[in-house]
Amino acid sequence: MKTRHFLTLNDLSVEELQNIINNAIAGKLRLHAGQTVQTLKGRVLAMVFEKSSTRTRVSFETGMAQLGGHAIYLSPEGTQLGRGEPLEDTARVLSNMVDCIMIRTFAHEKVVRFAEFSRVPVINGLSDTYHPCQILADMQTYVEHRGSIKGKTVAWLGDGNNMCHSYINAAWMLDFKLNIACPEAYCPDQTILRTASNHAELFNEPCSAVKEADLVVTDVWASMGQEQEMAERQAVFAPYQVNRELMTHAKRDALFMHCLPAHRGQEVTADVIDGQQSVVWDEAGNRLHSQKALLEFLLL
Ligand code: CP
Ligand code: NVA
Repeated sequence: MKTRHFLTLNDLSVEELQNIINNAIAGKLRLHAGQTVQTLKGRVLAMVFEKSSTRTRVSFETGMAQLGGHAIYLSPEGTQLGRGEPLEDTARVLSNMVDCIMIRTFAHEKVVRFAEFSRVPVINGLSDTYHPCQILADMQTYVEHRGSIKGKTVAWLGDGNNMCHSYINAAWMLDFKLNIACPEAYCPDQTILRTASNHAELFNEPCSAVKEADLVVTDVWASMGQEQEMAERQAVFAPYQVNRELMTHAKRDALFMHCLPAHRGQEVTADVIDGQQSVVWDEAGNRLHSQKALLEFLLL
């Protein structure tokens, strides 16, 4: 049987995605009721991090431990990757020892190449182009708070980045409308956008994108690897800040999400991210539950 990978959300069928979300919700309820399962007993996940992480690392490591398995943290500095061992060789070697590999890196092409040379499932823990693990948690969080997202309106504000691309994937898979308001030079990739042309639309005005939205989402203005562009980005992105005034254009019961880490006073004001409509802590916590469901899907 062909090895299944999770490099983008589209590696799943719609039914598989819905099952993972439902299993994540059920697994979380079981955990909170004190029930533990050891479905991944003896299984090992290797985690290759070429960029920093708090949530992704801790959620995968905790998830594997809770399911009876083990996770190994690997960084370029601490492995031969940093001394020039080819990615392909690393993929072949790791996949002869472990049951699953998560990789967080820069160019998405590296994730794809890693998967080509891996005998075991590879999970994209974030690339410059996609962040599929985060969108699983976001979708779980929406369903927990509001039920099905089908037919709802989601507004994306700010950078047309890796998270925005994963939202575009989710829009057509889960059948919601995605209104994207980005500065012209920072729009999402046109090819990715075209895959969801019936579901995703670009807006010039942040207020128009947010109008009647059920969910408002933003992310940092400068992603990892773009730190040197921060000053110029701050000026361009300022009109796209999610603040209380902007939120008044959304539905009264609209939710606010942000994958974190956040910069209060830049892409979002403190009164929004720390306010009533924000579900960012549930969203971050759900990284654990949705990835446990993903690991079980890939490994069992
Ligand atoms: N949202 C997210 O992926 O967080 P980390 O960078 O801390 O893993
Ligand atoms: N777009 C952000 C997401 C961080 C979780 C980045 O790539 O840095």
